[in-house]
Amino acid sequence: MKRRTFIQNASLTGIGVVAGASALSCKEEVTVTENIPATTGGITLPVVVATWNVHDATAKAWDVLQQGKSSLDAIEAGCMVEEANAEGQSVGLGGLPDRDGNVTLDACIMNRDGNYGAVVYLQNIKHPISVARKVMEDTPHVILAGKGAEQFALESGFEPEDLLTEASRKAWEKWKETSEYKPVINIENHDTIGMLAIDSNGDIAGGCTTSGLAYKMAGRVGDSPIIGSGLFIDNEVGGATATGLGEEVLKTVGSFLIVELMRQGKSPQEACEEAIGRIVAKNDSIKDFQVGYIAVNKHGETGSYSIHEGFWVTKYQNDKNENNPSDFYNKKP
Ligand code: GLY
Repeated sequence: MKRRTFIQNASLTGIGVVAGASALSCKEEVTVTENIPATTGGITLPVVVATWNVHDATAKAWDVLQQGKSSLDAIEAGCMVEEANAEGQSVGLGGLPDRDGNVTLDACIMNRDGNYGAVVYLQNIKHPISVARKVMEDTPHVILAGKGAEQFALESGFEPEDLLTEASRKAWEKWKETSEYKPVINIENHDTIGMLAIDSNGDIAGGCTTSGLAYKMAGRVGDSPIIGSGLFIDNEVGGATATGLGEEVLKTVGSFLIVELMRQGKSPQEACEEAIGRIVAKNDSIKDFQVGYIAVNKHGETGSYSIHEGFWVTKYQNDKNENNPSDFYNKKP
């Protein structure tokens, strides 16, 4: 099957982006098979989209969707790939530690029924996304934190594991030479993984998993496990998820905002732009941090936007009978 690649402008009408903001326009590089329409404007299910250049994770989620399984199963399986990747220093195993050298993980997952589960400040467990799912499905609560979350994970059969790899320990030792605290923008094109999927039944789910900011204060929790901030799904409307400096996402409840904007009629792209515009409008120091959003609506249309260039999005979307999925990045020029 012949493949072709073309560049198209994302729908950047400037809606909601404050004048003078440095948020940049997007170009989409789309690779499609010849007989499959490029369907950013149409309904083509299933679809999975993730923050950053996480091919393996997104491909895994796509495989699960291709097997006819639910978007929730796809999200868990996809996020687990990055959590197990010791090379990635911003999620799961190998995540950079807090100032005291402890790797602490945050994650959440949300299903088509609006149910949600999360873990915050979880230690010694490689797959917080799976623990979050268990919190959602097996407990009367939505969030478990710290030692309680770890105890629940152990009682649920998860194996304890030292998550501080040699590379991350060395990075922490180096950081301690100055102890200068500064968020890293686009850490090696890899940061918090937010993932959204719609399965062949049209049901939406999402997940978000992270080790949080490197060298954060002990006890710090970011946006990723907090419903409405790091992730929000409404199966009648769409979903959104965030990456970047969690404090800014928390203050603007970004993912909920994006879903509500889509409910009011904005496209995923327009909604992501407006959510970034809200952050830009309130900050004099946007050069010092990154925030990026991705969104999908019920029709399978997607959008993404970030404060700074360098934010990549990985997406698989194609005819469900096609075994050769298109892959697609939004990349700032
Ligand atoms: N967005 C991840 C964090 O700030 O922890």
